[in-house]
Amino acid sequence: MDISKVGVCGAGLMGHGIAQVSAQAGYEVVLRDCDQERLDKGIGKIDKQLARAVEKGRMEQADADGVRGRITGTLEAGPFADCDLVIEAITEDLAMKLELWRELDGVVKQEGIFATNTSSLAVIDQAAATGRPDRFLGLHFFNPAQVMPLLEVVQTVTTAEDTLATGFSFGERVGKLTVHAKDKTGFIVNRLLVPFMLDAIRAYEEGAGSIEQIDAAMKAGANHPMGPFTLLDFVGLDTTKAIADIMFDEYRERRFAAPPTLRKMVSAGWYGRKSGKGFYDYSGEKPLPVELGL
Ligand code: CAA
Ligand code: NAD
Repeated sequence: MDISKVGVCGAGLMGHGIAQVSAQAGYEVVLRDCDQERLDKGIGKIDKQLARAVEKGRMEQADADGVRGRITGTLEAGPFADCDLVIEAITEDLAMKLELWRELDGVVKQEGIFATNTSSLAVIDQAAATGRPDRFLGLHFFNPAQVMPLLEVVQTVTTAEDTLATGFSFGERVGKLTVHAKDKTGFIVNRLLVPFMLDAIRAYEEGAGSIEQIDAAMKAGANHPMGPFTLLDFVGLDTTKAIADIMFDEYRERRFAAPPTLRKMVSAGWYGRKSGKGFYDYSGEKPLPVELGL
């Protein structure tokens, strides 16, 4: 199927990036959030990144204007009616995602394809709640979506071959390396990466090193671009806890269980970079590790 208009739901960390890469690939994009402030914040980040690309000479001003002109923000479902592809990037919560899909199923044209950017939920649980399980797949981007090269294209038992093919051609057009993943909780990357991040918290709880030492060690000793605590704060501790809970529920293995420190930080409202405080405090000029007397 030919895609010309893409709908993105959720203008948070992932949704704004997915909207930007889609518009950069020439698609018309409608970006929706349920909260005006978050929608404005997401669009503001796109404006900032486009301005930076122009400043650095990576993009002509006219091209940046073209990208921005292809993105429309909304709080409504109506503008999704003629979308060829809808990608949801809302909160990692099955009940919220099902409510959204039920609404969109009644609004978006019948031939439109639905995709979830979920990190850990089974795609089939969302597909089966719609009247179009054959036109439903997973398109799992990585944070930041503008920069990370990978897209996991997830086929569930009901995904039709032409839907899967459309997912791959969309991924290639937005410039991603596409990998075919099965609908196994956590797909490929999170199945391996999430236990690593959770284990870093356990290592800290057990006194293996400080937040800064563990980060520095994994950067310099394993060549990771970010240490695990910087990455946890970057992904979002609320999202990481939701992912851990879903993966633990599915596999019942300790490696997926959210450590007590993570649970308590989320209860305290410390979500990482997006809330200004997580394993590091972001209120000053440079991030400082937080003293966790939890
Ligand atoms: N949004 C958009 N662009 C960003 C960005 C952001 N949040 N952060 C950095 N960039 C861009 C910068 O603009 C810069 O581009 P230019 O050089 O063209 O200006 C480029 O990325 C490099 O940035 P920096 O030089 O500032 O920093 P860096 O070299 O350290 O790279 C990084 C930043 C790409 C984020 C790098 O630190 C990195 O790869 N970190 C690991 C990220 C990672 O592992 N992501 C996966 C998380 S797990 C996941 O996503 C799955 C899930 O379901 C939870
Ligand atoms: P986020 O908290 O930054 O953003 C979620 C956004 O969705 C918020 O702005 C919220 O207002 C909005 N929202 C909630 N319900 C909505 C609804 N019904 N309609 C429209 N908007 C709604 O979360 P995020 O980190 O962008 O994660 C979004 C999804 O992407 C999750 O499924 C997550 O697991 C997945 N994901 C996250 C990452 C990451 O590193 N954070 C990476 C890959 C995938």
